Amino acid sequence: MGTKLLSVWNRINVLKTSSTVSQLICTYGAALGQFSHRCAYNTLKKSTQCASSYSSQILKARKPVFSFVNTSEKNQYAQYSLLGTLSLSVKDKSAYCSDKKSISSMSFGEDILFRQLLEYKSYTYTYLLADVATNEAVLIDPVIDTVDRDVRLVFELGLNLLYAVNTHVHADHITGSGSIKKMIPSCKSVIAEISNARADVKLKEGDIIKFGQFQLEARSTPGHTDGCMSFVWHEKGMVFTGDALLIRGCGRTDFQQGNPGTLYDSVHKKILSLPQHFKVFPGHDYTGQTMSSVGEELRFNSRLTKPKNEFIEVMGRLNLPYPKQIDKALPANMVCGVFDVPENS
Ligand SMILES: [Fe+2]
Repeated sequence: MGTKLLSVWNRINVLKTSSTVSQLICTYGAALGQFSHRCAYNTLKKSTQCASSYSSQILKARKPVFSFVNTSEKNQYAQYSLLGTLSLSVKDKSAYCSDKKSISSMSFGEDILFRQLLEYKSYTYTYLLADVATNEAVLIDPVIDTVDRDVRLVFELGLNLLYAVNTHVHADHITGSGSIKKMIPSCKSVIAEISNARADVKLKEGDIIKFGQFQLEARSTPGHTDGCMSFVWHEKGMVFTGDALLIRGCGRTDFQQGNPGTLYDSVHKKILSLPQHFKVFPGHDYTGQTMSSVGEELRFNSRLTKPKNEFIEVMGRLNLPYPKQIDKALPANMVCGVFDVPENS
């Protein structure tokens, strides 16, 4: 047993006769921050057999959450567990741990291919979705800077990329859909009709994007921009929210037709009304988190859990800096996928 693991082991042994839920979770978090999930899980499981009955609930609840997350997220979640759980009562802790259906886990089945790709200058997530049986695929929110990476991946995996979908006219980066069409001419660019941007396919509320045996439902979620759309993959319990709903936050509403009241209504009616176990995949995250769930955001989103009037006040006070790339991004994104994009952007 290594030195670090030994120290965690000793700490658990001290706690196990008088463990509280929060102590167990904190200890588990400490182990998780230093070791692999399996190592931390097995260590805590073995050493807490005589501890509080809560320990088995914690272990069961924690395991799926950490199954496929990366190291930085594990550390972040460990800190989250530490801070979040300590402030709850014993009764609340029990409810939190047993309500794991609405806590995100990443198991989507073997019939799909799913990749979450990061563009790290603007912290934009691009999503590659494919039907394994037919190889038909969709890219959501490709970024011009990472088009080579994404197209290479499409080719390496033998996928037939049908659509490059834009959740909205972005202000912080240039869409990759124009460049992708140069490399894969059969691929169609997609955006909401109401955005007035140029694209091969213009979506309206309720339109369907099909790939293989699967389909995404387009839901209009304005408020960040007029043309924002979220895409619901009902069969897999997933929603791609663009900038309408972010993890514990939301897109800004101070330019591009932004309207906080509209955003509040959109998110509550079209996204947070989905079943609580639906996984939320945002357009960005600036803290290293990759996914959330409807249930998590209903509980922990510090903005959208407020009453509408307070939300509007909060959004009006954000005082955010002007986006660095907006002056070149907006004109380029208004012609996504139809005309040439700037070569040196
Ligand atoms: Fe945006």
